[in-house]
Amino acid sequence: MSEPDLVIDAKELTKVYGTGGSEVHALRGVDLDVRRGEMMAIMGASGSGKSTLMNILGCLDQPTDGVYVLNGARVDGLDRDQLADIRNREIGFVFQGFNLLARTTALDNVELPLLYDRSGRKLDSKALARDALERVGLGDRMDHQPSELSGGQQQRVAIARALVTNPTLILADEPTGNLDTHTSVEVLALFQELNAQGVTVLLVTHEPDIAAYAPRIMELRDGLVVRDHATVARQHAVLDPGGGEPVEPVESLKATS
Ligand SMILES: Nc1ncnc2c1ncn2[C@@H]1O[C@H](COP(=O)(O)OP(=O)(O)O)[C@@H](O)[C@H]1O
Ligand SMILES: [Mg+2]
Repeated sequence: MSEPDLVIDAKELTKVYGTGGSEVHALRGVDLDVRRGEMMAIMGASGSGKSTLMNILGCLDQPTDGVYVLNGARVDGLDRDQLADIRNREIGFVFQGFNLLARTTALDNVELPLLYDRSGRKLDSKALARDALERVGLGDRMDHQPSELSGGQQQRVAIARALVTNPTLILADEPTGNLDTHTSVEVLALFQELNAQGVTVLLVTHEPDIAAYAPRIMELRDGLVVRDHATVARQHAVLDPGGGEPVEPVESLKATS
């Protein structure tokens, strides 16, 4: 039995790619529990298994072995259609490359996941999309297409699109990977603000300076959890002009931006 406030309850997850002599053991027994309302970072070097774990947690792929309970429901072993239903209902995704539709307004991009809603609920999808864009501070950009928005604004549209279905969990895989330092901190500040409003956020990154914005960091190495600890999360000043500390430089990002 899993506790009612556990959003993720995963035990002994393994993932093996390939067969015979070319097997890759991408996950070698990962345990993870995430409570409702948590914000955590999954960190690890390239090849450590972050995306593999993210794909399993996000119901995009199945583990080779292990037990995965998402929001109280057993997920491992479900077929593709069942997995897709759970995914659409429970998960909001944010990707490194934003993945917005070109020549489509912010409003229409954000509305899109609601048009796939098969729950039979009667939704005012335009109103919900407008609300989501207001929440990420883009109430004045609803009619803009991605090409008319900055990288940070595009990622905020993507975050609004992830929020609009009111998912149990937001999964963000390297969400600041395409952004400069200042914009990265703004996006992390937005995740912190949403988390303070109760949204559960899982952030995947290979950057310690990005993970530092999460109050809990789990570290993967070669498909195993080597560390899972609470931190004093780095705070932002960007969305809080009335107080807080100045924006700290993100050292390792400065080199690449
Ligand atoms: N589809 C796949 N087929 C075979 N090997 C894969 C596949 N996806 C990932 N891998 C391997 O699994 C390991 C973990 O990869 P990945 O989860 O992408 O790590 P990360 O996201 O931390 O960089 C790596 O050795 C990678 O080469
Ligand atoms: Mg990856």
